[in-house]
Amino acid sequence: MVYARITGTGGYLPENIMTNADLEKIVDTTDKWIRDRTGIEQRHIALEGQTMVDLAEAASRKAIEAANIEAQDIELIILATSTPDKIFPSSACILQARLGIHGCPAFDIQAVCSGFIYALTVAEKFIKSGTSKKALVVGAEIFSRILNWEDRSTCVLFADGAGAVILEANDETGIISTHIHADGKYENLLHVPYGIGDGYDQVKAGKAFVEMKGNEVFKVAVNTLGRIVDETLAANNMMKSDIDWLVPHQANIRIITATAKKLKMSMDQVVVTINKHGNTSAASVPLALDVAVRDGRIKSNELLLLEAFGGGFTWGSVLVRY
Ligand code: COA
Repeated sequence: MVYARITGTGGYLPENIMTNADLEKIVDTTDKWIRDRTGIEQRHIALEGQTMVDLAEAASRKAIEAANIEAQDIELIILATSTPDKIFPSSACILQARLGIHGCPAFDIQAVCSGFIYALTVAEKFIKSGTSKKALVVGAEIFSRILNWEDRSTCVLFADGAGAVILEANDETGIISTHIHADGKYENLLHVPYGIGDGYDQVKAGKAFVEMKGNEVFKVAVNTLGRIVDETLAANNMMKSDIDWLVPHQANIRIITATAKKLKMSMDQVVVTINKHGNTSAASVPLALDVAVRDGRIKSNELLLLEAFGGGFTWGSVLVRY
């Protein structure tokens, strides 16, 4: 049996920090409202001139170093993002060139906040089938560029960052199962309503911003993440108590707490970064994973449940024997 094992993680957050107090000066909000309703205290926002691939490159280099491999050893690059540097070529190709790699397949995945879970799922299939032996899987976003900084219901939530992992073929352990889903009927609850096909004038006017019916998204997210937990455990004949760590998408501390409760897990077994990172969309799960690996909480052979929910709607989970 061939598994896809995570052998290195990396993360990168832009140096520029924006606190809730900074936001109080921009929109009609308060530090208390943001903390109470979301759990966010601060977020990292890229400087002008920094691009998503800059963040992705920094995170990738750290993951490559942690895995103790050379960039040239990588046989597959998948980058999950909703904020690509260019319409084309894919940001994965731009990243590939930056890393000095030539010839291996490189492509982007667009599943908004579930993007990294989707990318990990696809990369795992390449490794399991023997097509690739080493893969770089990245989630990176520069959401600050698609936020309406006059809309307090969205601009306090999202942020910038990148996380990456190296996956390698391994005979003994690694990803145990992956579960991804989508339901396009929810398109209009969370979206950037303008693009090349629709509302191109708004794009040209620089008004292609995230719009969200937060309240409705919240309810579907809590229910859906509860179901994905059940699906993942049932598929593997496992019990809630088998999971050592929940590594959730960081959208709202109340959503994270609800999932932990569903799993009957103490919050001590949940990796929480939303207070410091905000919602970095596709970057949030690999960033959280990297934090908990590097601070020594997550140890070899432990069982991790990674999960996410995002625009589309898309959702999914990955069960990992680390
Ligand atoms: N500061 C102060 N007040 C704010 C605010 C802000 N930044 N944003 C919204 N409000 C106000 C609203 O205008 C509303 O006021 P009203 O009652 O006078 O109309 C009130 O706060 C409550 O708004 P509501 O949207 O019902 O709040 P909420 O408890 O649902 O929290 C979210 C809002 C966005 C934090 C929450 O709905 C959420 O996290 N949704 C899901 C996010 C998510 O998972 N995203 C997708 C996955 S990536």
